[in-house]
Amino acid sequence: MTVPIGIHDIALATGHYAMDLAELARHNGVDVNKYYIGLGQTSQTVTATDEDIVTMAATAARQIVARHGVDGIRTVLFATETGIDQSKSAAVYVQDLIGLPAATRSVELKQACYGGASALQLAAGIVARDPEQRVLVIASDIATYDLDSGGEATQGAAAVAMLVSADPEIAVLDETVGLYTANVQDFWRPNYRSTPLVDGKLSIGAYLEAVEQAWKDYEARGGSGVGDFAGFCYHQPFTKMAHKAHTRLLELKGIEATAARLHADLAPTTIYNRAIGNSYTASLFVGFVSLLDHSDDLAGRSVAMFSYGSGCVAELFSVTPVSGYREHLRTAGNRASIADREPISYERYRALRDFALPQDGTDLALAVASRGPFRLSSVSGHSRIYGAAHTR
Ligand code: HMG
Repeated sequence: MTVPIGIHDIALATGHYAMDLAELARHNGVDVNKYYIGLGQTSQTVTATDEDIVTMAATAARQIVARHGVDGIRTVLFATETGIDQSKSAAVYVQDLIGLPAATRSVELKQACYGGASALQLAAGIVARDPEQRVLVIASDIATYDLDSGGEATQGAAAVAMLVSADPEIAVLDETVGLYTANVQDFWRPNYRSTPLVDGKLSIGAYLEAVEQAWKDYEARGGSGVGDFAGFCYHQPFTKMAHKAHTRLLELKGIEATAARLHADLAPTTIYNRAIGNSYTASLFVGFVSLLDHSDDLAGRSVAMFSYGSGCVAELFSVTPVSGYREHLRTAGNRASIADREPISYERYRALRDFALPQDGTDLALAVASRGPFRLSSVSGHSRIYGAAHTR
């Protein structure tokens, strides 16, 4: 009998500020319901000047290490598409900040928003080879688009850390998956740009095509039927995208996508993303945490997971929560990390967008702006210097 492998622990972090999309609507002169209803987004996380993907990732991962220790963790897989360096992986900074042993394999993975799901699958492979090992998987991103572009309403930031192990306490990763890759130029970020280039309508179409094709591959490999799942967790660039995706899947299977059906299948997965916004690699897992935090007992009932990364790569897989998983959730802390964000006006957001770390190698000490356990304290000698809260 093969040993079950999956998510042993899962923890969430987001950034310091929240901008209500009413602020963006005011600036853009549009009806706020375009964002609240049309996109299904109420607010977006905005990071402070002393936060980045590493501080959010370390904030999520330290919760896991605090509960489970570091024994057996020999690999850190860090998925991101907003990397801070072309060469050195963000995983190395996190390994250091949270005190993992030196005998660790620390790497960064990239394929747009799909990177997190790929890290999860690679982690499962490592644990399958040696069930004594545990793998720390991190997905962390800050989604920004050009100012005054349509994408600006779909920005956000978050990190999710997961401990992947044998005999997991949260959910087993089921073996059957459906895959899809297509070379499409829907969203990409050349090395010389800080914001992506995106064809919004093309990206929605490419995502929906990927749902259909990944599902067909999943079915062909003997996967479960649509009626077998207790919930459907989609990558959520904006929560309405989950509705569009699920409608496509239901229609493919000849099932009417009524409002009641969509609500029943999707609502608990969208609560956190609606407030946080797109968090790229982390978004799917923010949706999964939201589902766990807002559902009745799902033990033994599998949940479909759909990851989409522009460019594009998609994967349809499933996880099955295990008996007793609810005792290990961090629901109160997760809700607080979202509710406690400092609300900001459009003008304050705009000032934060105008701030940029030096691009020419100049040193800069950063004033304390955030209140998380880790912060970016300076840029010195072309290097990012991080500090824990007690070193402020
Ligand atoms: P837009 O073109 O400004 O918005 O930007 P729109 O005109 O299409 O309106 C949006 C929705 O609001 C529409 O609903 C309107 O009808 C509705 P729909 O027809 O789509 O159902 N609406 C209203 N509803 C209620 N009351 C009103 C009202 N007014 C309008 N008063 C767009 C939208 C998504 C294109 C833009 O935000 C964008 O480009 N975002 C970035 C790209 C993106 O998120 N793509 C999603 C799929 S690709 C993906 O998920 C990958 C990604 O995460 C990147 C990665 O993989 O790394 C992005």
